[in-house]
Amino acid sequence: MSTTHDDIGLSTTGERRAVTATSGAAPTQDWVIVTRQLKRQYDMGGEIVRALRGVDLAIRRNEYVAIMGPSGSGKSTLMNLIGCLDTPNEGEYWLNGMLVSEMSDDQLARVRNKEIGFVFQTFNLLPRATALQNVELPLVYAGISADERKKRAMEALERVQLGQRVHHRPNELSGGQRQRVAIARALVNRPSILLADEPTGNLDSQTSEEIMKVFEELATHGQTVVMVTHEPDIAAHAKRVVVLRDGVIASDERRDQFIERVGVGHAAP
Ligand SMILES: Nc1ncnc2c1ncn2[C@@H]1O[C@H](COP(=O)(O)OP(=O)(O)O)[C@@H](O)[C@H]1O
Ligand SMILES: [Mg+2]
Repeated sequence: MSTTHDDIGLSTTGERRAVTATSGAAPTQDWVIVTRQLKRQYDMGGEIVRALRGVDLAIRRNEYVAIMGPSGSGKSTLMNLIGCLDTPNEGEYWLNGMLVSEMSDDQLARVRNKEIGFVFQTFNLLPRATALQNVELPLVYAGISADERKKRAMEALERVQLGQRVHHRPNELSGGQRQRVAIARALVNRPSILLADEPTGNLDSQTSEEIMKVFEELATHGQTVVMVTHEPDIAAHAKRVVVLRDGVIASDERRDQFIERVGVGHAAP
């Protein structure tokens, strides 16, 4: 990453050049995500919790990045910021060249619907809606016609190999199938990034493998993926591993460097 960080004003050591929140230049087109000294704190009745203490992260289009780190290190806080579900207290967030950290709630909601697909640990499906209806939902909000919605939702379900289960409700599906529905729903708006926060956290190890294959397949076909996981085996599917500790980036490595250091047994080449 050493040369690539240079052209966006970040150094590989995590030290910043003289770039302030208002003076940072817009990143070039290759970069789908750029954060500069991103900070998020929570005021818990007088006690300040510094969840993110200055995160510099740059992700190129088509990258597949795993985010790791101990519980409480700020992974979900970072994902929520990247996913436009939350706004930082300080620092910059550029998404596809747009300065998201300066946006109003309305603008943020629009950007989120258009650019972001989010997959959660708990699936978050509507229990009474079929797989197809669940996947169509983001298109309803986007004002797409019924025919077009159905067509696109079917395509998304087929991409996750659920074309045969589209009329099933969540309670008629296995955990792995539910997560596939959630992935299809995240993909249906053709987002520029797919974000997943511990997507295999509620699944057994065999089903987790299956779900990781889905993400890998999507990444292979050019989908930008950022995934939080606490499993080194899962992280080893990604091309790059970023480790958070106490609200800052502790390391940022290519997969092979990460595997060498952590010693993951059966990682793919
Ligand atoms: N909504 C919130 N209100 C107060 N504190 C929070 C909130 N969300 C997260 N935190 C705190 O911020 C820190 C980082 O949390 P989080 O981003 O959820 O970490 P992780 O996902 O790595 O486990 C923790 O100390 C957590 O308790
Ligand atoms: Mg979390």
